[in-house]
Amino acid sequence: MANTATIEIGGQKHEFPLVEGTENEVAIDIKSLRAATNGFITLDSGYKNTGSCESAITFLDGEKGILRYRGYSIEELAEKAHFLEVAYLLIFGELPTAEQLDKFHADIKTHSVVDDDVKKILDAFPKAAHPMGVLSSLTSALTAFNPDSVNVDSEEDMYNAIVRLLGKLPILVAWTMRKKKGLPLYYGDSSLGYVENILKMMFKQPNEERYIQNPILVNALDKLLILHADHEQNCSTSTVRITGSSHAGLFASISAGISALWGPLHGGANQAVLEMLEAIKADDGDTKKYMAKAKDKSDPFRLMGFGHRVYKNFDPRARIIKKAADEVLGDLGVVDPILDIAKGLEQEALIDDYFVQRKLYPNVDFYSGIIYRAMGIPTEMFTVMFALGRLPGWIAQWREMRLRKEPIGRPRQLYVGATERPFLPIAER
Ligand code: CMC
Repeated sequence: MANTATIEIGGQKHEFPLVEGTENEVAIDIKSLRAATNGFITLDSGYKNTGSCESAITFLDGEKGILRYRGYSIEELAEKAHFLEVAYLLIFGELPTAEQLDKFHADIKTHSVVDDDVKKILDAFPKAAHPMGVLSSLTSALTAFNPDSVNVDSEEDMYNAIVRLLGKLPILVAWTMRKKKGLPLYYGDSSLGYVENILKMMFKQPNEERYIQNPILVNALDKLLILHADHEQNCSTSTVRITGSSHAGLFASISAGISALWGPLHGGANQAVLEMLEAIKADDGDTKKYMAKAKDKSDPFRLMGFGHRVYKNFDPRARIIKKAADEVLGDLGVVDPILDIAKGLEQEALIDDYFVQRKLYPNVDFYSGIIYRAMGIPTEMFTVMFALGRLPGWIAQWREMRLRKEPIGRPRQLYVGATERPFLPIAER
């Protein structure tokens, strides 16, 4: 294959180099486009064809349904690894040795406290506040309580900010849920594993001395967090990278990512899926009605948990989660009619022309809420759990962006507004 691409504008040819990734993906490097063509830019709303960076973290092939973190398949990681190992892998590039993992966990534990005054901020939120809004605000507030983590120019500074955030975010997540449930806030137990501690922080009852770990819940949460841990340049990750590209600190960048994740087209879909399944159940399980609504172009309703920008065959995470949903509900002895409705809806969509032609398949969010619900996590917390899982991915992408000294993110636009016109005094308008 030629190693350049030629663009012809007004009879003049311009050559641009092709860049090849390690998985043979090819990009046209248009860095010199404006200069060479006297001001031409590319236009690609939603960045459907635009690579924003070179990255060595996550590989995804949407046509083949492949997802790998640092070269390791998501299937193997979900089965064999623990979340903290995967976090280390994503952030630092290699699976940790036992010693490296111990040190990483010990450093995180050192920072697994938040300033007690954070409680005052939490208290000021109404109980009805959505947990994602609360989490994003509290994460941003961490900047004020940890000013050392704002300017991070050395790798050591970055490391300190990273372990701080990995220590503190689970507390904010657990507190957000406890506040919603009217439970007293709890700081957790540093003798526990990372995921065990998250569960204890979320579920320990004030009138019980001990919290007894249920290995089914620990494994289920570990797996869900791993499956959500990174997904290359999606909406929230791009937000984190672009926010961090102005050299805003890690906490501010992650807070921006949390806000981006909240939307129902992105991480907010897991809550929307469960609400949709509940609505179908309340409607006597009439899946046909909702399928028709999803296909009706005059109706804004979409089948939540279906479709993906990059997966056009199947979402490997959805396959793992569907199997896990069966196992976890079975192990916990939970019979949830919502699971049957979800399976029925999937069956109908998989043979429906509208969905087949548009290559719309269940995504990661279609079955995850069913597991979270069986674990006793309230629906409004589902996207918060997604954020907790995505944290190492966001951190890894932010760190990579800073270490590569990427320039500030600043897209161009094609202006289509009014051309220059004189100002009219108010009386003449
Ligand atoms: N239900 C009905 N129609 C759909 C759906 C859906 N869930 N998703 C896409 N379509 C249709 C869409 O109307 C369009 O049809 P047409 O070509 O006739 O105009 C076509 O499929 C292509 O859709 P698109 O909106 O151009 O695709 P996109 O790549 O811009 O959007 C998406 C991807 C995930 C935002 C979209 O599929 C969607 O809104 N899905 C539901 C929300 C959801 O489950 N989001 C979670 C994504 S996975 C978690 C994560 O964010 O990482």
